[in-house]
Amino acid sequence: MPVTIRTLAEPDELILFDHARALAFGHPLRRSVKPGATMELDRMHVAYEGGQAVGTAAAASFDLSLPGGSQTPCGGIRWVSTLPTHRRRGVLSTMVSHQLEEFHERGETVAVLWASQAAVYSRYGFGLATTSVDSTLIPRAPFLPGIVHDSVHYVHAMADDGLATKTLAPLYAQMRTRRPGLVSRNTGWWHHLTSDPATQWVVHEGPEGIDGYLGYQTEAEGWSDSGPSHRLHVVELLATTARAEASLWRFALDFDLTSTVIAKRRPTDDALPWMLADIRQAQRTVRDGLWLRIVDLAAALTARSRQFPPDTELRIRVTDELCPWNAGTWSLGPGSCARATGRPDLTVDTADLAACYLGADRWSALAQAGRVTEHTAGALGRLAAALGSSRAPWAITWF
Ligand SMILES: CC(C)(COP(=O)(O)OP(=O)(O)OC[C@H]1O[C@@H](n2cnc3c(N)ncnc32)[C@H](O)[C@@H]1OP(=O)(O)O)[C@@H](O)C(=O)NCCC(=O)NCCS
Repeated sequence: MPVTIRTLAEPDELILFDHARALAFGHPLRRSVKPGATMELDRMHVAYEGGQAVGTAAAASFDLSLPGGSQTPCGGIRWVSTLPTHRRRGVLSTMVSHQLEEFHERGETVAVLWASQAAVYSRYGFGLATTSVDSTLIPRAPFLPGIVHDSVHYVHAMADDGLATKTLAPLYAQMRTRRPGLVSRNTGWWHHLTSDPATQWVVHEGPEGIDGYLGYQTEAEGWSDSGPSHRLHVVELLATTARAEASLWRFALDFDLTSTVIAKRRPTDDALPWMLADIRQAQRTVRDGLWLRIVDLAAALTARSRQFPPDTELRIRVTDELCPWNAGTWSLGPGSCARATGRPDLTVDTADLAACYLGADRWSALAQAGRVTEHTAGALGRLAAALGSSRAPWAITWF
């Protein structure tokens, strides 16, 4: 039976979406659902087969920060699911194709997602564009001598949305100009983040104003002979100065009654391990981050090309079965990406280009894995230099 994709027409239909998604992810069914602060009903789709809701897919509208401080319109794919009774019949493939066409029409140059299953998305042209580190830290781990830190104070963002917007959002916006991979957050996203009563927010105030914040949660572990014990979870720690960074980590590490400090989804070039007197007091595990798909190659690479070195001159051939408008040979130069003819310097699949789009240094590994073909000696190095980033790409907004 053919699958048709329909957009939610009424908030009442949300329950259909919610039930299909809950069955697919193995969550309990809810009796009623209200539109959440980050939901975009006109970007939520249900796949129907013979009148039955068998799959879901949704999108969020973002701008994605790029190396060099610019940004590009981006669709964030979320809540993708197929009922267990209807799997492996192409429902997901139909939904992904539908979404990529929609993104293209909206002028979104790239699509991003967090994958619950890593084997699924490369077939659709997604590449792993960010990587992150989960750290487990020993409380009270000392810093190296000379690391300067001072005190922080609480902001009760939960009680007042305005405070969150005034205090946290401007700093986050500043960080977005320094870090590729961060997505824009509107007031709905800030409300969603700061309305969780389990998260407490503290800020560091430097000479120029607030220059760092930390959101954290504590999780009780119970009482032992030595008293109560907690795990402290770092929800989000952002700082624009070294002093703010050190002060906020010191606050987290020195929290009383804590057995472990857990900081998930930290950047691969995090400053913290380099502040510690003993680097092994941070046990670090590298994880997958955000998967990215180039939707409109000309626009996406033009957005990146403004940071290309002045002598960049390359012709790349890109293969892309699902979005044929991206396939072919492209010439890249400072400020430009245009269709080209003639012999390319290098051939790459769209998924591998996507894996490097935010500046992650993957080119030599991809070449060693036989996934990129260099036709002109040195072309790989020149492409790596053009698309590289001084800061590791980092994604923290879970959607
Ligand atoms: C992942 C999921 C959405 C796939 O849906 P589906 O409708 O069965 O997928 P399709 O039938 O369209 O399969 C498309 C392709 O992906 C492959 N695929 C699907 N799930 C896969 C998995 N878990 N591992 C490896 N490959 C997978 C299929 O084999 C098929 O490949 P092919 O085109 O080469 O034959 C579904 O299994 C699901 O809902 N899982 C639980 C929720 C979840 O993990 N959602 C993803 C959130 S990021």
